[in-house]
Amino acid sequence: MFRISRITDICVTTLLLLGALLVLVYFNESQTDSYPESIHSYHGKVEHSEDHKASHTVFSLLRGRLKSQMGNLSQNLPLRCERNTTMANVYGFDSFSPMIQDFLYYRHCRSFPIILDLPNKCGGVDEPEDIFLLLVIKSSPNNYERREVLRKTWAKERSYKGKMIRRVFIIGTDGTGLEKEQLNNLVRLEHKHYNDILQWDFKDSFYNLTLKQILFLEWMGRRCLQARFLLNGDDDVFAQTDNMIEYLQDNDGSKHLFTGNLIKIAFPKRDPSSKYFVPLLIYEKDVYPPYCGGGGFLLSGYTALVIYKMSALIQILPIDDVYMGMCLAAMKLKPDPHMGVKTLGWYIPSKKIDKYDPCHLKDLLLLHKFSPRDIYFLWNEVQNPNLQCSYKTSTIVKPNKTQTV
Ligand SMILES: *[C@@H]1O[C@H](CO)[C@@H](O)[C@H](O)[C@H]1NC(C)=O
Ligand SMILES: *[C@@H]1O[C@H](CO)[C@@H](O)[C@H](O)[C@H]1NC(C)=O
Ligand SMILES: *[C@@H]1O[C@H](CO)[C@@H](O)[C@H](O)[C@H]1NC(C)=O
Ligand SMILES: *[C@@H]1O[C@H](CO)[C@@H](O)[C@H](O)[C@H]1NC(C)=O
Repeated sequence: MFRISRITDICVTTLLLLGALLVLVYFNESQTDSYPESIHSYHGKVEHSEDHKASHTVFSLLRGRLKSQMGNLSQNLPLRCERNTTMANVYGFDSFSPMIQDFLYYRHCRSFPIILDLPNKCGGVDEPEDIFLLLVIKSSPNNYERREVLRKTWAKERSYKGKMIRRVFIIGTDGTGLEKEQLNNLVRLEHKHYNDILQWDFKDSFYNLTLKQILFLEWMGRRCLQARFLLNGDDDVFAQTDNMIEYLQDNDGSKHLFTGNLIKIAFPKRDPSSKYFVPLLIYEKDVYPPYCGGGGFLLSGYTALVIYKMSALIQILPIDDVYMGMCLAAMKLKPDPHMGVKTLGWYIPSKKIDKYDPCHLKDLLLLHKFSPRDIYFLWNEVQNPNLQCSYKTSTIVKPNKTQTV
């Protein structure tokens, strides 16, 4: 009896050790990719546990972990996209700034693991909700204050005139190593609380904005196909989301719509010192197709999906709003101007008028750009039913009914 149970004990211990060994080998191998982070925090513990008891506990913890990770491992961990080293042989490559070189190395990468997902933002597969306006706000991990104010103001999730408004922030990651992990932890907390952040594991940089757009559209195709319209914009704009509903309300999003601050003719900047520098190697033509300023534009769900499909065929250009224009042009679709969208700064009828006078904002759709504090103040002013506007705001055009093709 004693012997048998001892043998069983030995067997069990051996099995456990073997198991733990396998797990260790597994985690050592997976350490080369930097995700998922939770595995990393466990990795340290395994190495330091000496006695069997401890390793047994860690093992069962790990097994639980592993089980819950397996799902995401198979779904969400595509192989990390490798830099295209042959790029370095291209004539002129050495003359580019490290940022441009970096862009060129990773230009072909379109798929990055999702860190924070929102599977039920639009009601999930079983009970899709009729989202009328999805606010897709480009943010970055550090912009906590901006997000916080938007949640309380124009990006509040609500219904207006019976139309449902929902919000997602789209972000990548910032920093490296410990700093990156700490920021990710903060963002995860925020996500848990508000359920409004989509995060992917790529560097959130100016030149990766197009990548962010493409990743969002891919998400939308999977999780929120039914959204009728989208406001795609920055986290420092003032958006009159109620006016947007008024503007769009007689439409269902099944036709082409893409409107904002239309830039009909723009030329690629060939001066390397420009923030928007685009060398010939990245974009050959002398002129960009018409596009809408990226501070904020409205588009239908239909057009969003068309753009996503086209994007598979069009090489990434680092300037995200121009890239949208390129996708539209490839489909022979046109972006339309909307006078209520001012992404290039203030439009003030007269210099005598106070620029913080909410009467200017009342009939607009979107204005660039504001500090969180100003957004908070102006939103409350504009929402005030007793707001008296002493002069006519006729220079600020009331939204037209949607023009669709
Ligand atoms: C994997 O999925 C589990 C449960 O589904 C979740 O708790 C965990 O946060 C996910 N991990 C990652 C890295 O997405
Ligand atoms: C890598 O760069 C070379 C040189 O520009 C190019 O010909 C090739 O298509 C690129 N590969 C990928 C996977 O993008
Ligand atoms: C874009 O993100 C990828 C993945 O994190 C990164 O390797 C690359 O350097 C980034 N590109 C730029 C231009 O910042
Ligand atoms: C509204 O439509 C009129 C006539 O079609 C046009 O002239 C005007 O620019 C449009 N306004 C807006 C805000 O699009």
